[in-house]
Amino acid sequence: MTQHQRLLIIDFGSQVTQLIARRLRELNVYCEIHPFQKVTEQTIRDMAPRAVILSGGPASVTEDGSPRAPQALFDMGLPIFGICYGQQVMMTQLGGRVESGHHAEFGRAYVTPAEGHRTDGIFAGLFETGREEVWMSHGDRVTALAPGFEVIGTSPNAPYAMIADEARRFYAVQFHPEVHHTPNGRRMLENFLRIAGFTGDWTMASYRDDAIAKIRAQVGDKRVICGLSGGVDSSVAAVLIHEAIGDQLTCVFVDHGLLRQGEAEEVVTMFRDNYNIPLIHADESELFLSELDGVSDPETKRKTIGRLFIDVFQKYANQIDGAEFLAQGTLYPDVIESVSFSGGPSVTIKSHHNVGGLPEKMGLKLVEPLRELFKDEVRALGRELGLPDSFIGRHPFPGPGLAIRCPGEITREKLDILRKADAVYIDQIRKHGLYDDIWQAFVAILPVKTVGVMGDGRTYDYACALRAVTSVDGMTADYYPFTHEFLGETATRIINEVKGINRVTYDITSKPPGTIEWE
Ligand code: XMP
Repeated sequence: MTQHQRLLIIDFGSQVTQLIARRLRELNVYCEIHPFQKVTEQTIRDMAPRAVILSGGPASVTEDGSPRAPQALFDMGLPIFGICYGQQVMMTQLGGRVESGHHAEFGRAYVTPAEGHRTDGIFAGLFETGREEVWMSHGDRVTALAPGFEVIGTSPNAPYAMIADEARRFYAVQFHPEVHHTPNGRRMLENFLRIAGFTGDWTMASYRDDAIAKIRAQVGDKRVICGLSGGVDSSVAAVLIHEAIGDQLTCVFVDHGLLRQGEAEEVVTMFRDNYNIPLIHADESELFLSELDGVSDPETKRKTIGRLFIDVFQKYANQIDGAEFLAQGTLYPDVIESVSFSGGPSVTIKSHHNVGGLPEKMGLKLVEPLRELFKDEVRALGRELGLPDSFIGRHPFPGPGLAIRCPGEITREKLDILRKADAVYIDQIRKHGLYDDIWQAFVAILPVKTVGVMGDGRTYDYACALRAVTSVDGMTADYYPFTHEFLGETATRIINEVKGINRVTYDITSKPPGTIEWE
């Protein structure tokens, strides 16, 4: 358990509960999300939070058996903030009334102040323009306040859009302060944290010190193996663990021959030479490429690569004497238990695609120093550890590498052409200062040759597709709106500089319906 001040978020299943945690972390407050089914009076006492937030959720408190908070929570003297369904839970459990009905509000709404309302405490700094823009998403609404509460703000369909019981430090709103569409939502959360006495002690510098102490305590004088992919998560984990235990850490970097131009050298130079981390460079490209020979089905490619990866990793890891731990770059979103209304809490734990199943197979215990972090916090930690910005800001790269950017059969010739074209494309993006605006960009080489003309001669070469998307988490994505000048210049450069390509196309499919990768 962290030594930091803690906040408990009881999750009733809202799609945006994670955003509450994100906002609080941005305000340097440590918080944990727990599904309502798992929260009891005892778990609250054990966690000893300074404050509690009740999230939104899809249920209706008017239904039998709908979710509640432990009744004892309301007698613990803790500040509580109820959001949407959380507000309705508070009213129901504290003696107010909630009704279902025809008062749904979805999307933007405006809250105006109630007569004689307070403008201090959690509502400090609000209503400066006379009303607050908020984002609503509710079917039910509160129709009678619980004793002790007063109304602060009202929207057309929610007479009790903002309410407070200042004496008990209980606050509740019908809308979602955690989303960006509620411009002053962050301020409300900030006010709530101040009222609860948070001092903002969750910083990356303190996290780094804590994490190092924890790793030392867990590992003792044993050895740790870390699979390094060159991606941000495993790199940050490796540098952090190395700082904690030095040469007790050995990294294994499996080079499957499906990396981008210069990538293997970059990883080896950075970790072995710059950081002095013991690193095994497992160059197994021959093995992977020969096994992939003749394979064109995308799923078979992935399965073949995954299987070989585990075999290879195990082979090299077995050479490290006395290793008892395996490091993994598991992140907080991978371990948050999600609320499921059909059959109890379900656990969504993504096993790391590269080493899934390995810990059990090899009898290794896990070291997961990033388990409490969101992706952008991992980047912040990386900066704190001195990893270069150019490395931390790198676009994601899939485990199966270029294999899934080479639709159809993979050949060494195609991979060589693809590497060169990709390097020119990324160079163009960097030169135009667009790299950080784009979530992911790459070239796919198409399994088709087309006719062209260069100089006086006919060409018959491969076509390629450029891909660039913006995204928040890779789940949905929009294609990046390059200018025609940029696209034209890039196409010319690729065709002039990369032998083997004579046609360039730009993929303007969003996700959905497309996926980011071509396979
Ligand atoms: P898609 O293509 O599904 O990709 O829209 C979403 C994100 O996931 C990456 N990706 C993978 N990463 N193993 C990985 O480690 C895979 O098999 C894999 N397939 C896709 C993709 O690069 C994008 O960032």
